[in-house]
Amino acid sequence: MIFLMKGLPQQTLNMGILSPLLTLSLVFGALVLCQYDVNEFEDEFEDVLDNEYPSVFRLNPSVEFAVPYPEISAECAKECFCPPTFPRSMYCDHRNLRTIPSIPSHIQQLYLQYNEIEAVLLKSFENATALREINLGHNNIKSIMIDSGIFAKLSNLVELHLEHNLLEEIPFPLPRGLERLILGFNKISRISAQALKGLENVTMLDLCNNNLIDSEIKGKHFSSMQSLMQLNLCSNKLQYMPPELPFSLMYLALENNSISFIPNNYFQELPKLIALRMSYNNLHEVPYNVFNLTNLVELNLGHNKLQQIFYIPRSLQHIYLEDNDMEGHSPSNLHSEVNTGLDMDMGNNVCRPIISVINITLMCPSMNPLSLNHLTYIRVDQNKLTAPISTYAFFCFPHIRTIYYGEQKISSNQQTQLRTPVFRRYLTPEEYDEAEENYEDQDQEHGGRDEDYFDTYLY
Ligand SMILES: *[C@@H]1O[C@H](CO)[C@@H](O)[C@H](O)[C@H]1NC(C)=O
Ligand SMILES: *[C@@H]1O[C@H](CO)[C@@H](O)[C@H](O)[C@H]1NC(C)=O
Ligand SMILES: *[C@@H]1O[C@H](CO)[C@@H](O)[C@H](O)[C@H]1NC(C)=O
Ligand SMILES: *[C@@H]1O[C@H](CO)[C@@H](O)[C@H](O)[C@H]1NC(C)=O
Ligand SMILES: *[C@@H]1O[C@H](CO)[C@@H](O)[C@H](O)[C@H]1NC(C)=O
Repeated sequence: MIFLMKGLPQQTLNMGILSPLLTLSLVFGALVLCQYDVNEFEDEFEDVLDNEYPSVFRLNPSVEFAVPYPEISAECAKECFCPPTFPRSMYCDHRNLRTIPSIPSHIQQLYLQYNEIEAVLLKSFENATALREINLGHNNIKSIMIDSGIFAKLSNLVELHLEHNLLEEIPFPLPRGLERLILGFNKISRISAQALKGLENVTMLDLCNNNLIDSEIKGKHFSSMQSLMQLNLCSNKLQYMPPELPFSLMYLALENNSISFIPNNYFQELPKLIALRMSYNNLHEVPYNVFNLTNLVELNLGHNKLQQIFYIPRSLQHIYLEDNDMEGHSPSNLHSEVNTGLDMDMGNNVCRPIISVINITLMCPSMNPLSLNHLTYIRVDQNKLTAPISTYAFFCFPHIRTIYYGEQKISSNQQTQLRTPVFRRYLTPEEYDEAEENYEDQDQEHGGRDEDYFDTYLY
């Protein structure tokens, strides 16, 4: 919440009038922002948060805060509501509308979500040249029912919501200035070769919960979207990592597909990646070095079939490995692990029997006291661990606060618990104060801490 207030434009705090829309923004802001571990981002990622975060994480920049516009026409479609304090917004949501009303020319924000709209016709948009934001989510729109070229004409459009409709393909052409395109929960199985071309300002593209297969993703100009920061492809039908993604990407969501491997140098093309979500896939193993990325903070690989741990980059703060096939070693092995130390032959791990797979030496092959690892949270429940992770972990990862062991699968039909299902490190007084200040984060740290670095407010 501290961060949220900091992020609000000053005049809104001074005004003291919370109009409905501002309240909405606040709620939205709180919902999204409270999901961060604000504490941990504030130290190091303040710049990122303030300047570079995908704009979906910020208060909506196109919302105008209660500045009166006496000169603006009071024109409003009769089915809709245009609040006097926000005369450029037209609210037509939740009204069982079957058609889009005529949009007056001064309207910038158009809310049409939760209706029964089936068609998007040119005549409604005839005069709507000022539109910056359209929400058509939760309707019954099919691709063929969108008049061709209709969105491309809206040259000021920056945000388009079409989630929860019946689209079969990405609508195109789209206006070149578009910044956020939300298409989740449709039936998209086709991407036209031209659809994404020239969308140089798009920072956020959401295509989760569609029917995309690998061949539709390939060669579709994702790489030309040179501002793209967040790409959501979760809950599709992908078997391979999407190729040719833009260099600018920071958040990649691929959970709930059928991806079974990650090519060796896949992330070399994505050096800015901060968060990767790949839970609910089919990963059996990943190349040892594959996540050696300078900016990676969040890595979610839960609910896969991983047996082997891998290199943990210095920047990583949270790792989720629940419901995999990692096995644990007995305490008698711990000493040998500490001593076998730092010299490894990673080239030849094919025939090596899987003994102890949460092997700290692998996670942290060497330590640099001048550049400590950032890891604070490990989730490893529903694996096959019979003993806790070696205490050597605390040398390698001095910032560790929680290791969540939860229940472990011993055999297929048996669950067991380690003696300590949740390990919590004793905090120094300074750390304790810091944690108190951010007690919200601490609350979430009860095991199933599912922080959300991705934008999920849409659904
Ligand atoms: C667009 O504006 C013109 C001129 O003001 C008006 O005659 C027409 O009815 C408007 N169209 C729509 C769909 O509102
Ligand atoms: C893209 O964004 C830049 C920077 O905000 C802006 O100057 C430019 O006009 C935008 N491009 C289009 C086509 O709107
Ligand atoms: C996973 O994707 C399938 C469709 O591919 C969908 O039916 C299911 O609801 C998704 N599961 C989750 C947890 O999102
Ligand atoms: C990680 O990458 C850096 C260079 O980017 C390299 O120097 C280092 O050896 C790599 N570490 C591992 C464990 O692969
Ligand atoms: C951990 O991995 C290293 C490097 O592969 C290996 O030498 C060591 O034996 C492993 N430790 C255990 C306890 O399996």
